[in-house]
Amino acid sequence: MERTLGIIKPNAVRKNVTGKILAMWEDAGFRIAGLKKVQLTKAAAGGFYKEHEGKFFYEELVNFMTSGPVVLVALERENAIAENRRLMGATNPEKADAGTIRKVYGDSYTENSVHGSDSPESAARELGYFFNVFETL
Ligand code: CMP
Repeated sequence: MERTLGIIKPNAVRKNVTGKILAMWEDAGFRIAGLKKVQLTKAAAGGFYKEHEGKFFYEELVNFMTSGPVVLVALERENAIAENRRLMGATNPEKADAGTIRKVYGDSYTENSVHGSDSPESAARELGYFFNVFETL
């Protein structure tokens, strides 16, 4: 079993499709090991996206990720990282395949509805950033 971090981003939370996205993960065989809705501070979002600091989209990304609550999800299944990336679709929703989360709920490159860890190293860092051991069951 492998775990990955999913984030339902502020545009999707605002659209009131949190439950629909959670259902897409469950229907695809993921178990929800941890779940919480939070309002990120600029420091928390900036730290999370540290690897993108200095890139042209960084400020817009941090502003967007703090524009409203997000839902943090610890997802578990076999091959969770790769399977979640497949289910989410391409980062840019315009390029995402039909039926993927970003195709259905993404609005733009920045407001692409969901985040998913992109490697085992990222998953470990990102899950540890947002969840403690008592919160992933
Ligand atoms: P996410 O999976 O959360 O990881 C980093 C985010 O930065 C990504 O989703 C996009 O929302 C955003 N991003 C990455 N590349 C670009 C880009 N070229 N233009 C705008 N936003 C981007």
